[in-house]
Amino acid sequence: MPFNLNTLVRPNILALEPYRCARDDFKEGILLDANENAHGPAIQDLDDEEQLLQLHRYPDPHQLELKKLIVEFRNAENVFDVDKQDIITPENLCLGVGSDESIDALIRTVCRPTKDKLLICPPTYGMYSICATINEVEIVKVPLNLDTFQIDPEEINKAIANDPTIKIVYITTPGNPTGTLIDFKLIEKVLNNENFNGVVVADEAYVDFAPVGSSLATLVNKYPNLVVMQTLSKSFGLAAIRLGITFATKRLAGILNALKAPYNISTLTSSVATRAVSPQSIKHMREVVQLLNSERSRLVDELLKFPNVSKLLGGESANFLLVQVVDKKGDPSSEDAKYIYEKLATTKGVVIRYRGNELGCPGGLRITVGTKEENDILLEKFQDVSKDLL
Ligand SMILES: Cc1ncc(COP(=O)(O)O)c(C=O)c1O
Repeated sequence: MPFNLNTLVRPNILALEPYRCARDDFKEGILLDANENAHGPAIQDLDDEEQLLQLHRYPDPHQLELKKLIVEFRNAENVFDVDKQDIITPENLCLGVGSDESIDALIRTVCRPTKDKLLICPPTYGMYSICATINEVEIVKVPLNLDTFQIDPEEINKAIANDPTIKIVYITTPGNPTGTLIDFKLIEKVLNNENFNGVVVADEAYVDFAPVGSSLATLVNKYPNLVVMQTLSKSFGLAAIRLGITFATKRLAGILNALKAPYNISTLTSSVATRAVSPQSIKHMREVVQLLNSERSRLVDELLKFPNVSKLLGGESANFLLVQVVDKKGDPSSEDAKYIYEKLATTKGVVIRYRGNELGCPGGLRITVGTKEENDILLEKFQDVSKDLL
């Protein structure tokens, strides 16, 4: 069946009328309409900036100013051929409590519990399966090509043809734990599948660490079955505020906005997020990304000098690296990788992530790029610990 939101979206969600907040009707005056506390917060030493936030009032459910800044940023970096009428606007956005909430919201929008399915491409981010399980949605797995960590669009399209209950294809680009940017031409083969009544999600949590112009966010009007997810947790360094962004057609974004809790984005979060996506902060973000990316290259060079690190398993498009640990014989060794991981954490105070259990990642360790000083310590301690195994 071809893509059709009227049949794709669950009927109960399609019929939702967005919750009308008290403030949607009247914004000014003596506000006695939302059962707030007119005396203000129960904190007596708020500073001037905090006073201005009006923390006793419910937050703005629409976040228009923040959305405007986000689309300006992504439109400015767009490298694709996009017709004037397809340029993204704030109406293409739905904001979530981190992209983890956005992932869950999309599943609840299109997947009927116990009936529909979600396709993932392992090795990939773990939350898709967790959200699917919570929503009683079955998972279909079409592994990445384990040599390149690119998706296999032919296999994905075959799975879709075999099972019309697949409603979402989740593609992580750049991948986690792979760090590999997925070639858009491969994603396009799934987007152009005329027999798929479902959406293709590009989860771009790490996209700013890939070359500028890698984001597909500006393509959601051109490809109505494309959904792009981003977050301020990584390149913008704001994991604590929990701000995720879904880009979709205006119609689908409208449906997602109707489904979300009206006040999901707190005033504190939107205030910090709005500052973070100002042109000045974006410039700073880009400088930090450059610094992290040059440290990433240095880490690759240095890690590959260790005799028990044989190669980079993944790509160099995120703020982490996936390396392969080998034993004395030169064979990939998850046992040795686990030893290094545990020893680093318990005796050296350096915490990385063991990924040897992931599909196609034998001997895998995932290392987040830190500051120069942190990376120096990691390299020194890694070498110390590895010596035990030689
Ligand atoms: C691929 C991917 N998507 C989404 C997320 C979640 O991000 P957020 O902090 O916005 O919930 C992560 C976090 O690690 C991730 O790796």
